[in-house]
Amino acid sequence: MPVIVTASSKGGAGKSTLTLVLAQALDALGASVTVIDADPNRPLVRWRGGKSASTLEVVGDVTESNIIKVIREHSATRQFVLVDLEGTANRLVSRAVTQADLVLIPLQASALDSNEASRAVGLIREEEETLEGRVIPYRIIMTRTNPLITTKIESGIYQALADAKVNLMKTRLHERQAYKAIFVRRLTLSELDQSINGLEAAKDNAERLAEEIVEMITAKQAGELKNVYG
Ligand SMILES: Nc1ncnc2c1ncn2[C@@H]1O[C@H](COP(=O)(O)OP(=O)(O)OP(=O)(O)O)[C@@H](O)[C@H]1O
Ligand SMILES: [Mg+2]
Repeated sequence: MPVIVTASSKGGAGKSTLTLVLAQALDALGASVTVIDADPNRPLVRWRGGKSASTLEVVGDVTESNIIKVIREHSATRQFVLVDLEGTANRLVSRAVTQADLVLIPLQASALDSNEASRAVGLIREEEETLEGRVIPYRIIMTRTNPLITTKIESGIYQALADAKVNLMKTRLHERQAYKAIFVRRLTLSELDQSINGLEAAKDNAERLAEEIVEMITAKQAGELKNVYG
């Protein structure tokens, strides 16, 4: 079943947040989901150690030498396997990327980060060369966006990405307090205290993200829209 790897060539781009938000939204839709926490800091393992009643499975015991085996084992039985990586390029990252059905690259809307997008896409292309021409599908996803306005910087990035024919997710992951709170409280969005600012909007955003991912995977599996992945 599909392996979705979150990667970026830069630390702090929002990979772990994206991974947990997407994983718990897919879990909430009823899918069986395993997150492989391949970041040596183990942020998702720490999350799983909290009191959440979620059925989301988190696996943390991975190294450069067993990552491929661990991904294959879990993807044989689970509906989704999500892999969270650290923000520096190394062999573990490369190996995980080669196993991906989809690589999600979070990008924050700042001028500096648009260069990061081409760098991250470049890394994917390098991995493809080692795979003798197999295409590794990827999508850039804009994160920490303002839900109310699209800034000029953001519009500029969209244009630059479109010009460069870079694949972009339709759904953006907005800046939301709730996405920080799930890590602090070690809970899912639906388990958070209702008083959290913008909680319902954060849940909607997470649901839309999960739906877009499911649509992409379904289209790919049905063999329709062959160009759905780049
Ligand atoms: N959509 C969001 N809304 C609010 N805060 C966010 C969002 N995305 C990321 N953040 C915050 O930005 C910081 C970095 O995010 P995160 O840890 O997800 O990045 P990362 O790419 O996993 O970092 P690293 O490379 O260190 O693993 C965290 O403090 C997180 O709470
Ligand atoms: Mg992280």
